Amino acid sequence: MPASASSCRIAPSILSADFSRLGEEVRAVIAAGADLVHFDVMDNHYVPNLTMGPMVCQAIAPYCERDGRRVPIDVHLMVKPVDALIPMFAQAGASIISFHPEASEHVDRTIELIRSHGVKAGLALNPATPLDLLDHVIDQLDLVLLMSVNPGFGGQSFIERMLPKIESARRRVDAAMQRTGRAIWLEVDGGVKPDNIGRIAAAGVDTFVAGSAVFNGGRYGAAIDALRSEAMAGMRRRQRIEEPA
Ligand code: DX5
Ligand code: ZN
Repeated sequence: MPASASSCRIAPSILSADFSRLGEEVRAVIAAGADLVHFDVMDNHYVPNLTMGPMVCQAIAPYCERDGRRVPIDVHLMVKPVDALIPMFAQAGASIISFHPEASEHVDRTIELIRSHGVKAGLALNPATPLDLLDHVIDQLDLVLLMSVNPGFGGQSFIERMLPKIESARRRVDAAMQRTGRAIWLEVDGGVKPDNIGRIAAAGVDTFVAGSAVFNGGRYGAAIDALRSEAMAGMRRRQRIEEPA
């Protein structure tokens, strides 16, 4: 079975949560089935918005558990510069830290810095950022985060032109996993909804960020279940194409 068809992770973005009750919101979305908690960090410099820092991450970390097991905090840094915040987020309980290559002077060094703190490393690629950026670093990565909107705000529409980019990222990730035997997650972020997640999954994504789709309707369990069942159907379609009977 290709790795791409083996699992499906839903990562609600708490950017769309009620910030006045963040701990409760995190607890609720985890009880509703979140596999990861996606934590969007914006600095009003790399992106035109300002959100949360390491202190907020530390504050929610005790809420990130289910049945005594930690639910990973998936930190998405949309900040420039990046490096000074990495030890702070590692300390604050991040399990994964992703950053944008345009925001670091030395991408390889930043990846190694993340790994040196025992945290999984992700590289986040904007819609216009070429996949070639992965060429010399993919073996150091645990996660490739493909932006399907321009970063900075929740509630934007999925850019359909990203579907072929996702397919070609999937091929690169599969080749790297085969070469090294290490797992690499392929995550998409922006505009993911029940009516497009099947196509996104069929293109090869295994980890799905969803902010407004989870938080805006109020019924988190139903929202996550709907996303997961559509995603699994998409993954099965992909598997059938890859492995004809
Ligand atoms: C956008 C953020 C996303 C955002 C997604 O810059 O990185 O994680 O919260 O929100 P939706 O799912 O509403 O597009
Ligand atoms: Zn994000």
